[in-house]
Amino acid sequence: MYCCTKVTDDVSWIGVNDRKTERFENYMPLPYGVAYNSYLISDEKTCVIDAVEFGSSALYIEKVILGLDGKNLDYIVINHVEPDHSSGLKDILRVFPNVKVVGNAKTLGMLRAFNIEFPDENFVTVKEGDILDLGKHKLTFAMIPMVHWPESMVTYDTTEKILFSNDAFGGFGALDGGIFDDEVNFDFYIDEMRRYYANIVGKYGAQVTSAIKKLSGLEIKLICPSHGLIWRKDIAKVVSLYSTWAQLLPEEEGVVIVYGSMYGNTAKMAEIIGRELNAQGIKEVKIYDASKTDHSFIVAEIWKYKGLVIGSCAHNNSVYPKVQPLLHKLENYGLKNRYLGIFGTMMWSGGGVRGIEAFANGLKGIEVIAEPVEVKGTPKVEDVAKLENIARELAAKLIAERN
Ligand code: FEO
Repeated sequence: MYCCTKVTDDVSWIGVNDRKTERFENYMPLPYGVAYNSYLISDEKTCVIDAVEFGSSALYIEKVILGLDGKNLDYIVINHVEPDHSSGLKDILRVFPNVKVVGNAKTLGMLRAFNIEFPDENFVTVKEGDILDLGKHKLTFAMIPMVHWPESMVTYDTTEKILFSNDAFGGFGALDGGIFDDEVNFDFYIDEMRRYYANIVGKYGAQVTSAIKKLSGLEIKLICPSHGLIWRKDIAKVVSLYSTWAQLLPEEEGVVIVYGSMYGNTAKMAEIIGRELNAQGIKEVKIYDASKTDHSFIVAEIWKYKGLVIGSCAHNNSVYPKVQPLLHKLENYGLKNRYLGIFGTMMWSGGGVRGIEAFANGLKGIEVIAEPVEVKGTPKVEDVAKLENIARELAAKLIAERN
């Protein structure tokens, strides 16, 4: 039946693929859509794990009703109150006004803050290790604060060893046909999964690492996140990726070059650095114009690669406006474990290169390689050698780390 896809005999995926929303959190583009996953456990008591975003709730409610097949809905667990999961709860409450809402001590206040109303006595407060007995299925709960909000928790089905992990282990991208990791070509999903991680929970690496450590004691047969693929074959792979990303360890040797350029002069400098990096033997060089590529994609690439080169023209004594949000996010997220090269252009008092240097000085764990190169106007013959020097020093650092 279209409404539900069996995860196990008793557990169904009742999520919704959203290919209409242009931007996640109203700022990150969704070229491949996003899935709001929700799950229905059919037992003596029925239970839904997490709702969906309100824009998708008409289809969602249809799925819940069809999935229940005439039964009442007894419980809905709210692992996380961010509205991409909780706003559809309002529609659940319209159809099932007596449903018990399950969350932790922080959950109810947040739901109330979003005007999600139901009687206080219908809220079931759970704490770490509590059991919710559905009959055959016994659910327990573990708190994973800041993955991705303070109230975030996971639900673990002790009967079938299923981890309902909410944002953790999730990814962007609608589920196009396959919903399990072993049904799809993962190469298609990994970039969007990395972009999701880096931009959504990238700031909370320490908390993600703690959560992975806490959950490592569980026997897990399935990871059912609230976005992206369900993991049943290669659970170690997704845990390993998340662990790498949480520690801000690069996956590969390559270099991201990102620049802001009004009239093409800073862009010329990026091309020179890129060409020399390649000449030095670095095969993965990605050059991005910050005015064209949304910064969420560039952040994801920076998460992937060890080398980073940032260039900016001066703009009103500061960094170019399209580079600033990128620097802000990397600073806010505490980027580390990267080599950084700096370049840019100016005409009178500068500001682009100075701003990038200030950004680098504010971050621990970033090593600035080579002298920053700032040229007046357009790069001249004598500037080429300085720019190539950035590339050579960066390449030497990367090559020295090859096994
Ligand atoms: Fe998917 Fe933090 O919400």
